Amino acid sequence: MRLEMPRYMERLGGVKFYGIQRVLELTGGITTGPAGDAPGTVNVSRADLENLESEMAIIVPVKDENPKLLEGVLSGIPHEAFVIIVSNSSHDVIDRYRVETDVVFQFYRLTRRPFLMIHQKDKALAKALAEAGYPYIIGEDGVVRNGKGEGMIVGLILAKALGKRYVGFIDSDNYIPGSVNEYVDIYAAGFYMAKSRYAMVRLKWPYKTKFVGRRFYFRRRGRVSEITNKYMNMLVARVTGFESDIIQTSNAGEHAMTMELAERMAYSSGFSIEPYEVVHLLENYTGIEKSPPYPEMLSEGVEVFQVEPRNPHIHEERGEEHIPRMMAASLGTIYHSRLADEDLKARIIDELIARRALKAGEEPPKPRVMPPFKDVDAKKVLETLEAESDTLAFLED
Ligand code: GDD
Repeated sequence: MRLEMPRYMERLGGVKFYGIQRVLELTGGITTGPAGDAPGTVNVSRADLENLESEMAIIVPVKDENPKLLEGVLSGIPHEAFVIIVSNSSHDVIDRYRVETDVVFQFYRLTRRPFLMIHQKDKALAKALAEAGYPYIIGEDGVVRNGKGEGMIVGLILAKALGKRYVGFIDSDNYIPGSVNEYVDIYAAGFYMAKSRYAMVRLKWPYKTKFVGRRFYFRRRGRVSEITNKYMNMLVARVTGFESDIIQTSNAGEHAMTMELAERMAYSSGFSIEPYEVVHLLENYTGIEKSPPYPEMLSEGVEVFQVEPRNPHIHEERGEEHIPRMMAASLGTIYHSRLADEDLKARIIDELIARRALKAGEEPPKPRVMPPFKDVDAKKVLETLEAESDTLAFLED
């Protein structure tokens, strides 16, 4: 895979945000010679991608998706990567989790790939997390709360239990297996470029594609992400004193981290998880916080790559209702940041009111923050699940 080298980088204390890099070639050919090392590009060989992917877990959060879509997503994940599916699908009329398990077993019977899957509401999962010292995603009803963020954290802890060095996320409602394939290769290419142990790769979809009338319409920007990026960059300006547009991936559902970084990050719930990751880095590792939670991240530095894939993103359309909620949750992470001043807060409120995501006199929701899982005994979580879970399906190599 050949990518543009980042043309631009902003260093904020310990955090380097690289400007958007585009994918130039999905397969970049030989990595030596004039084409191999063309200036301004980085060409990562298939062998290097596969090596990195063999140490990677891909976490797929699922909630009530069409099983055909899930199967397509699985088919796109490169063979070397280990798949972890965390499902919060309903059991009501039909047992959707059962259907998903059937799809996965059938797929893996034919492909012989290892995998792990679990239901988010499994009682044994909550018990295992509580015993291992991570009760923060458990609700009052004694099981893990609803939410994409919560499912992702479950996946992260299980990836740690499996000893994976890298973790990436892929939504399960993606119609194009080829784009899934490209996303995971980009994660690997990002880790190939990274110099720090604390690296993150965030994707910026080139187009969000919809079928309108008789043709596809390629929309350049997602509504929520465009607005979140605008306010995230204003938050950056509160740190540096300079306006910037460096952050283009605030809502990147598709992103990946080294495990060394993932286990040191704090997370927030539901759809605020992705913007909160950026807020967390800005608050703690840009030098403003004099005693950051993990000083080694400040001294070695955190690298954030932002990459634009070639494939358009075509996913399940959920209607308009959840857009205002998503917007309020995303901007809530910025509004409630300790870096936000009164002017920024007032602008966020005005924006949310104008977009009918907030009523006058209200504040955006405060993110519910979950601490890092670095000291959690992840192996113990998996052992408890193996002994007690009703929903765990785990096939190793
Ligand atoms: N395990 C689990 N638990 N998965 C969930 C849950 C949950 O409670 N809720 C949703 N998911 C899964 C969905 O099945 C899907 O695979 C993925 O999480 C994303 O959910 P969507 O409902 O499809 O979100 P979206 O497409 O509107 O938003 C996506 O793009 C945004 C950027 O525009 C998500 O990736 C967002 O996180 C992202 O910010």
